[in-house]
Amino acid sequence: MLSQRLQDAINGQIQHEFYSAYLYLSMSAHFETVHLPGCARWMRLQSQEEASHAMKLFEFVLEREGRVVLQSIEQPPAKFKSSLNVFQQALEHERKVTGMIHRLYELAAKENDYATQVMLQWFIEEQVEEERTASDIVEQLKMIGDQPAALFLLDKELGARGAGEKA
Ligand code: FEO
Repeated sequence: MLSQRLQDAINGQIQHEFYSAYLYLSMSAHFETVHLPGCARWMRLQSQEEASHAMKLFEFVLEREGRVVLQSIEQPPAKFKSSLNVFQQALEHERKVTGMIHRLYELAAKENDYATQVMLQWFIEEQVEEERTASDIVEQLKMIGDQPAALFLLDKELGARGAGEKA
């Protein structure tokens, strides 16, 4: 069984993962309005992936005979300065999430909860990939600068992302 402290912390992480889904959905809506359908699709898939992260934790709590307590989700930003700014915010967000996962892992280790540590290893690896992908796109957007033709090509490339893929 999960300790109360760990259960509360995992419930908090479920909230953060759903917030991530909400944030990326808002970013997807932004890209639709600025006519970058590829970026919009990429963000929509990212949002779905975040919801699946939340559900992974949700299932885990139930599997361990714990109690899921869903919390309210904060309103995400709706306005963004530029495409680069959107991906910079996404990268910053992922770095924050990595820190949260690491703190959760530290707590699981402190509580000698081995099953939670094993489950969180998946998230630790996932975060490496998440940060790397967002960072690559940030750097590519910096290279593109204000060249619309290059942005058009990157948008096409990001739009080719398949479900379950990163890019
Ligand atoms: Fe669920 Fe992007 O971390």
